[in-house]
Amino acid sequence: MKSIVILISGRGSNMEAILDAGLPLDIKAVISNRPDAVGLETARRRGIATCVVAHTAHASRESFDGALAAAIDELSPDYIVLAGFMRVLTGGFLARYPQRVLNIHPSLLPAFAGLHTHRQALASGAKIHGATVHFVTSKLDHGPIIVQAAVPVLRNDDEATLARRVLAAEHRIYPQALRWLAEGRIGLDANDVVEISGLIVSPGIENQELLVPWE
Ligand code: GRF
Repeated sequence: MKSIVILISGRGSNMEAILDAGLPLDIKAVISNRPDAVGLETARRRGIATCVVAHTAHASRESFDGALAAAIDELSPDYIVLAGFMRVLTGGFLARYPQRVLNIHPSLLPAFAGLHTHRQALASGAKIHGATVHFVTSKLDHGPIIVQAAVPVLRNDDEATLARRVLAAEHRIYPQALRWLAEGRIGLDANDVVEISGLIVSPGIENQELLVPWE
């Protein structure tokens, strides 16, 4: 069975969705860069080992990433799953784990990289927004896409209502992507997810699910 560690910074609802999914994965630990992350308590209640590597204890990104890598390497996971982990990782860190770090981003990448994605979507006038699970590369929010879910932007949406709709989609696609990973179904070349074997997709919507608007 493949193994993962999950990195969080706060609430941990994506982590919880992953734990709830009963995936055929050995979840070695949940690591947070914030000691007060609510998700740590959730993980502990589920009997998952937890660990804090506080970024505030480090003067540089390199030093923090070194401590993080040391904590991860003790667990020797196959994959590192960023789930609401709000730190940008250095190229040095990522080079240690090529094609082994996954992230969820609350937009349909490559649109709206960075922070405040729901605000960006509303300001842009987009009618469709969503979430993306992707492999992490040193170009922020730009790695190979595994799966995306789209949701509508509704006329009366504000950041909070849109965030709620996107989060529900996140909770669906992250466990889905990890299931494909656990089953060894994700084919990768150097720069892209080339196939997910056995996946039935609508023509032209490669590797993506399109959620039906529900409001
Ligand atoms: C999610 O929307 C995630 O995509 C984003 O931050 C939020 C974290 O939520 N980067 P949670 O901690 O998983 O509840």
